[in-house]
Amino acid sequence: MRLDKFLSSQTDLSRKDAKAVLRQGLVSVNGQVCKDPAAAVDPAVDSVLVGGTPLSYQEHLYLMLNKPEDVVSATEDRSRTTVLDLVPEELFRDGLFPAGRLDADTTGFVLLTDDGAFAHDILSPKHHVTKTYVADLAEPVTDECLRMIREGIELKDGTRCLPATVRVLGETTVELELVEGKYHQIKRMVAAGGNRVVALRRTAIGGVVLDERLEPGACRELTAEELEQLKNRPKP
Ligand code: URA
Repeated sequence: MRLDKFLSSQTDLSRKDAKAVLRQGLVSVNGQVCKDPAAAVDPAVDSVLVGGTPLSYQEHLYLMLNKPEDVVSATEDRSRTTVLDLVPEELFRDGLFPAGRLDADTTGFVLLTDDGAFAHDILSPKHHVTKTYVADLAEPVTDECLRMIREGIELKDGTRCLPATVRVLGETTVELELVEGKYHQIKRMVAAGGNRVVALRRTAIGGVVLDERLEPGACRELTAEELEQLKNRPKP
């Protein structure tokens, strides 16, 4: 990897700032001052110091974002704000993407990462990683709707959904746990059960709960414990 790219990926320096820091002779690689932004480094092997402080290498980044309404779960969009637009510069990295999409009007927990294998692991229905949602409904929830969701509902277009866990939180509020993420799945499941979702919020992924201190639009890195919980969970 190029040295300037490595520096900007591991610090809050932009690529331009990294080049400036290099020019000032503040960076050493394996004990030698290096001013060449294009110098090749192997982050797993080479020792890189900035201003005398060693950089500890973190291969991938994992962020918890509290997505507000009217933000799209995409890496770019011509007119609308994307989840990546919300990531502050000091946490931004090339290659970040949302591991799983929420509808623009759904709020709550979105995981952002640059680790493709991890995203696949979390999203594959075969791996049974639960996604937890709280849904506000237009009408009081019926026993029939709950039964259909629990047994594995068939959507109007014939798509079959796996059985989901559903808990009644109030007359018109339910908590659902899904292990898959079909298009508009909860809205369509609830519609098949004769009701309508009026507000939807994702509150947890794989048992890692959205940090309630994160304001809408804010994000932070996952803690080591949260990452461990997602990566080293019991296999189904
Ligand atoms: N189900 C939906 O209908 N929408 C979402 O955003 C997530 C799950």
